[in-house]
This record gives sequence, C-alpha cells and structure tokens, in this order.
Amino acid sequence: MTQHRVRVALGERAYDILVGGGLLDRAGEHIAPLLRRSFAVIVTDENVAARHLEPLKRALAQQGIGSEAIILPPGEAQKSYAGFEHLCEALLALKVERRDHLIALGGGVIGDLVGFAASVLRRGMDFIQVPTSLLAQVDSSVGGKTAINSRQGKNLIGAFHQPRLVLADVDLLRTLPPRELRAGYAEVVKYGLLGDAEFYAWLEANGTKLLSGDAALLAEAVARCCAHKARIVAADEREEGERALLNLGHTFGHALEAETGYSQRLLHGEGVAVGMALAFRLSGTLGLCDADLAPRVERHLAETGLPARLADVDGAQAFSAERLLDHMRQDKKVRDGKLVFILAEAIGRAVQRDDVPVEAVQGLLSEQLDRRAA
Ligand code: GLY
Repeated sequence: MTQHRVRVALGERAYDILVGGGLLDRAGEHIAPLLRRSFAVIVTDENVAARHLEPLKRALAQQGIGSEAIILPPGEAQKSYAGFEHLCEALLALKVERRDHLIALGGGVIGDLVGFAASVLRRGMDFIQVPTSLLAQVDSSVGGKTAINSRQGKNLIGAFHQPRLVLADVDLLRTLPPRELRAGYAEVVKYGLLGDAEFYAWLEANGTKLLSGDAALLAEAVARCCAHKARIVAADEREEGERALLNLGHTFGHALEAETGYSQRLLHGEGVAVGMALAFRLSGTLGLCDADLAPRVERHLAETGLPARLADVDGAQAFSAERLLDHMRQDKKVRDGKLVFILAEAIGRAVQRDDVPVEAVQGLLSEQLDRRAA
C-alpha cells in the first residue's frame, strides 16, 4: 500500500505525518532519528495496550530504543485534573528528562492528555503521536491542540504544543469497534463539507466501502484529511481565523455531548455528525446556502450509520432547546458574549459567523425537538 507523507510546515517546529499500513511495526525506524537518547516513554490505555503496546515496544527495541510504558484506564475521565496529576507523577517517577520523547499511543483522550503533559512537564518536552482511532488520525493527533477538561466544559485547560511526528497506521483501524470507526468518519466528512466539495463527492461514492475496512480507501481518506488540516494549521496555528472552520458541527455537537454527559450515549463524532447536519439546516434557514443541501448531508450521514437529527440521539425526548443553548454559551468560540457558528455557503465552503440570531437557533432546535414528539 502507498505510504503518504504530509508535512506540517511550521518552521523549526515542522513535522511529518506518515499515513499508511504497517507503520507500527516500523515505528522504531521513524522515531529513532528524532531521539536524543535511546529511550522513550509510551503512554497508552488498557484497551490499546492489549493490542498494540507489545508491537510498538518490539519495533522500538529493533532500533535499540529502550522504553517504559504507562498504561491508563480507558475513557474521557482521564482528561481530568486527577488524571493529569496521576500521569505527570508517573512520568516524573520514571525520571523522564526534558530532552526525552513521550509517545502517545491511543485515541483522542490519550493524545490530548499526553500532549498537555508534554507541554508543561519539565517546562516542555517533545512528544510523538501514534493515533489508533480514525478520529485521532484525521483530527486530534494533528495540529498541536492538547487539553484536559474542566467542570465547566471540555478541553478548557490546555495548550498548543505540536508533536514531533505523527504515525497514522491505518491497519490499526481494522480492529476498532464499528461504532467508533463510524464516529471517526464524521470528522472525515467534516473536511469535505468545510473545504473540499470534490472530496465530499468522493466520500459519497466510497464512504460505505471505506467503513467496511478497505485499507487503501482508509489510507487515502486519512492522508487527504491530514493534508487539509496540515495546510490550515500551517496558516493559522492558534486559531485566529481559518482554523476555526475545523469546528464545523462542534458548537451543536459539544452541546449535545454535554447534555448526554459525555457518555456512550453519544460519541464525540456522533455529536459532530448531528451538529454538521444542524449547521447545514441553519445555513439553509438563514439563506446562506441552498435549502436542499441539508437533506443531502443528512442522507450521507444516515447511509453510513451516523445520527443526523436530534431525534437520533439517545434520550432526545428529554432535551430542551434552552438547555442546549445554555451549553453553547460555554463554547470556546463565544466572543463578547455572542455565539459563533461555523455555517456553510455551499458544500466545501464553510464560513464563521458571529451574527446568527439566537432565535434562529432556538427555532431550529425547537422544530427538531417538536418533530421528535410527533
Ligand atoms: N480539532 C480542531 C482543531 O484541531 O483545530
């Protein structure tokens, strides 16, 4: 299978994202040139460790790289003050040095947590991302956003800290639970919707086959998403402008995640899927884009097994428009008290807007919630 190399052009902090099959088994070859001593600490979770830790340790050992592993319980709860403290203390107990590299082996939770620890430990260490979920491969492992959660909301305590290398091995995606793979696919769809109409059409044609585990299609999709994200991050690392477009679907999505308690009732990507469909509905209502685009988006999400409407979310009968709006008011994009939405002028043309009347959002939510009762 073709191996793709995507460069994130950030001057002296530039790095490569390698995408393809068999990368875990050759991880040592790619990591060795970065290290200053032949040692690294791998941080992972119990589920990922069971499948992928030994192969990674073996691949490092083949290049003479010694490693220690810290294995955390799985789940979002690790992205807490307590989880962060536990990880930092465990790393310091291993006497990690400032010039060592941490390796984040896992999904978005591990990547965000390890990246944040790396950003502050000994005032800043290097780290490498080995993402094992589709969501992490196409989004969270790239671009240097790291964070833990606060009681006030998700990802509110964090830093921009770029990895030194990302190894996205698509073979690792084959063992993912189908629901998790689909949830990650929502972030793939996001790239088409926000900035690449041709890619979106390609996904409409290939999405179902890709989700059945076709490695070549997965690699092509991951590489295209990473190339797209790399370009945006290089132009706007700290989200002063264009990078905010990557939050398409996230204002609604985060509100839904908060309302469902960040639980298995709604995975992050599923929230993003509903959120993207709502963003297209809202864009249609406001006359920003053709009203027939929202049904097209909903159709593709539904045919790939993703939720597309509020009614598709577990427990939707208990939602209220006011509570969802309250969650949105905690969004990181709120500016001068105004909600900021990523909306669409077309498929492949997203725009940031801070002038959306709250009544329009309320109307859309109420309409979908009323329909739920019908
Ligand atoms: N996940 C959105 C970003 O990295 O900017």
